[in-house]
Order: sequence, then C-alpha cells, then structure tokens
Amino acid sequence: MKTTLSVAFAILFTHFLFAQYPLYLGKPVFHGAERVGNYPNTFFLHTVPATGERPITFSAKGLPQGLLLNASTGIITGTAPTKGVYEVSITASNNAGTTSTNITLHIGGKLALTPPMGWNSWNVFAWDIDEKTIREIADAMVSTGMRDIGYQYINIDDFWHDESRDKDGKPVVDPKKFPSGMKALSDYVHSKGLKLGIYSCAGKLTCGEKFGGYTYEAIDAKTYAEWGIDLLKYDYCYAPLGQKEAINRYQTMGLALEKSGRSIVFSVCEWGLRKPWKWAAQKAHGQYWRTTPDIFDYWKGWHPWQKSFMSILKFQKGLEKYAAPGRWNDPDMLTVGNYGTGKATSAKGKYNGMTDTQYQSHFAVWCLLNAPLLSSCDLRSMNTATKNILLNAALTDLNQDVMGNQATLVYNKKGIRVYKKELKDEGFAVAFLNTTNKKKPLPDYEKVGLYHYDFDGKKGFDPINLKQVDNIPVNIEPYETVVRVYRY
Ligand code: GLA
Repeated sequence: MKTTLSVAFAILFTHFLFAQYPLYLGKPVFHGAERVGNYPNTFFLHTVPATGERPITFSAKGLPQGLLLNASTGIITGTAPTKGVYEVSITASNNAGTTSTNITLHIGGKLALTPPMGWNSWNVFAWDIDEKTIREIADAMVSTGMRDIGYQYINIDDFWHDESRDKDGKPVVDPKKFPSGMKALSDYVHSKGLKLGIYSCAGKLTCGEKFGGYTYEAIDAKTYAEWGIDLLKYDYCYAPLGQKEAINRYQTMGLALEKSGRSIVFSVCEWGLRKPWKWAAQKAHGQYWRTTPDIFDYWKGWHPWQKSFMSILKFQKGLEKYAAPGRWNDPDMLTVGNYGTGKATSAKGKYNGMTDTQYQSHFAVWCLLNAPLLSSCDLRSMNTATKNILLNAALTDLNQDVMGNQATLVYNKKGIRVYKKELKDEGFAVAFLNTTNKKKPLPDYEKVGLYHYDFDGKKGFDPINLKQVDNIPVNIEPYETVVRVYRY
C-alpha cells in the first residue's frame, strides 16, 4: 500500500511539477526577439515566433523592400536593405482574435541583439552526427513548437569534416555523413525558417582532431557563406596558450566572417581561460563567448575540465556587466533532457544526469543569465518534463527581453541564491534557487537583496507555474528555482 501510494504520488508530483505552456490555445501571442540585427545587403531570415491556436495568418507593415513575409508561417526572408533602423508592425490573426507587435530591424554592424536560441549537436550526439539526424532535429524543432517560441539555430558541432581539405585548401564535409553536402542541408533548414550553425577551431586541428581553421580563415569564411551557414562556433584546441595570440586568431576569423557577405554569428569558445568577456566582442567581433570549460550532465562537483552545473554557475558572478545586446556571456549549452545519456556530457557514463527539478533550475537560471539558449538533447524524443522545461515561453521571453540585462546575484547564503534581472518597462524578474538537498525557508526579502519598493503596487507572475501570485515564496524545495516577475 505504502509503495503504491508513493509511486502514485511520484507520478502525480512528476506530472504536475512544471506547468505546460499553452502553445496552441487562444489568441496569438508573440515571443522572442523584438530587435533583430543583420548586416546590410546580405541574406536575411527571421521567423516571427508566435503561439496561439492554429492556423494563424501573419501580415506586416513597414517591411523594407527586398524582404517578404510568408502569411501562413511568419517566416520573413530575402535580402536585407541598406544600413538603417526599420520599424515593422506585425499582425497575427486566428479564430480567437488578433494581436499586433512591433519588431525593429537593425540593419548595420550588429547581430544577435538578443541571446541566440537553438540547438547544438555536441552534448547529446558528440561525434555521431549526420545529415539525416540534423534534418530530423530541424523537423522536431518545428513539430514540438520550439520554433514558435523563438528557437532558431541548428548548430552542427565537431565531426562534420572529411579527412582533409581539398587541394585548394577549401574545407570538405564528410561525404559519408553528409552525402547531400552542406548547401543542401542549409537550404532545408532555411526552408523551415531556421538557421544553420557550424563548428571550427582556431588551432591547426579541432578538439576532435579534425582540420582546424588556423591560417585558412578567409577561405573558410567564404566557403561557409557559400554553404549558407549562419553561425560559427570557434574552438581553441591545438592553439598556443597566451591571450594575445588567442585574440589575434579570433580577430582574424571574426573579420573574415564580417567580410564573407553573410550575417554569420561568431561564437568564441576558448572556455573562459583568457577572460574573453574583456575582448571577444570589441576585438574579435564575436557575439558570445564561453565563460568556462565544458558543461557535463551533473549538478554539483568540481573537475578541471568536466564542469558541473553548480561550478559553472558560481563562475558567472560579476560577468553581467559585460553582457549587452549583441554581446553575451555563454555558460555553455543546456544539458536538459539528457538524463546522463548524452554521448559527450555523460563522459561515458561517469555522470548520470540531473533530476527534472534540477534541469528546471538549470533552464530558469540560464534564461535569467541571458545565456544563449542552446538545447542539446535529442529533440525527436523528449519526454513531457523536458518539453515543458524547454518550451516554457514565459521563461524564454525573459531571456529575450529587449534590454539585454543579465541577472545579478543579489544574495548568496546558506545554499540560497537570488538572481535579479531588470526588464523593459521597469519590470524585473527574480529567481530564488535552492542549491541544496533540503527544503529551505527563504529569509525576509530585505535580507535577500530585495526591497519593499520592489514589490509595492506590483502583481507578481510565476512563469514556471504560469500564474499570478501575491508574495515571494516562503519555502523552496530541494534544488528548486522559484521565479517571480514583477511589472508596474
Ligand atoms: C570543446 C568544446 C565543446 C565541443 C568540443 C568538440 O571541448 O568546448 O563545446 O565543441 O570541443 O570537440
């Protein structure tokens, strides 16, 4: 009896732990970036993310010449106009009503005006990737609804390469894994309103010992542009230790990408060892930079290279001042949904994953830290808990807030951490994270770095449970994060 009851309780508890964001109910609701950056006169693609009952009909006013909106998908594509700021009014209508929003196209020198959202192949598949899998992941990003809340990038990590470059030094894709070639794959991904990312390295070899980009920067950037690539993650294996040389190598690639004739987001990945928050944006022209060595699929513990969630989190303190639209700290991909089965993040079974509560905390805190939200589980087979976490649009909308303010750690005592993120329209979000295995009372809010005036006259919203609430929480469950959003 006792066992039956506890099993029933566990099922109920697991089932109701996280609310399911209503993706396809009611009037259209817009999500994702309100400001979109693109270089002038280059390929432009932006899908306007919207939830709500289907079908939705989209229309736009003020779209510059050269760009077209698909009325049934919300995909805007074409060639970006000349330098300038273009205000576009988008309307979405369905059976339940009509909603309008404004998005601003910043056509100039900046990309990634909100943290990129997408998927990366590394944590889950590592070396074991091919075009069929990548296409199926793109399909899943659409069919699960991830595209409708703002996920956009499908990033191929290491191991796409053939044995060597061609005789002219051009990069070559492994023809067994990618028989149709990269251009056909990017065409497919773009046809879904998504973007394609690729991986290389500032050393002679990549971390997986494939050919690196060093001394081939111009030819690589040009080839990636021909292949229709939209993002490059650039690693730092087989390269010299010093900061000066790292800056030179990243700068050479950053400039080559800018000259490639395509808007290619540049992700700097030297693991935070040379303080990239101080130079990756200005000097290397990167849009985001890793702050630590790689994340592995476990909550807590220390290892020099295989970082736990907690050891990465601790390291983020103070980095918020370096983040702003177009330049983001990257605490690495999400391990949400891997449950210790990721080919890279489990380290051959050494780490057996996190609980759903821990994954929820990982996700909520990454959202508030303005991390690039790169899911990295098998999107084709996510369970309900994983879907509810990755598809919580109320949390991802906080990540995409147009101001681009990364949350600050305002309190850190006895295993409770409080993060506060300022939002547009004088709103703010607070996350209360219990890092311990014990239920903990929350100290008085003045003691956790919050003030009466923070709350007076404001209604709180709980984006995890998707409901209005009156007060900040009294107790926090083990490993749980409670989030509150307050707006005037
Ligand atoms: C490094 C990076 C990882 C991944 C691998 C690929 O470890 O930090 O994110 O790209 O290389 O080999």
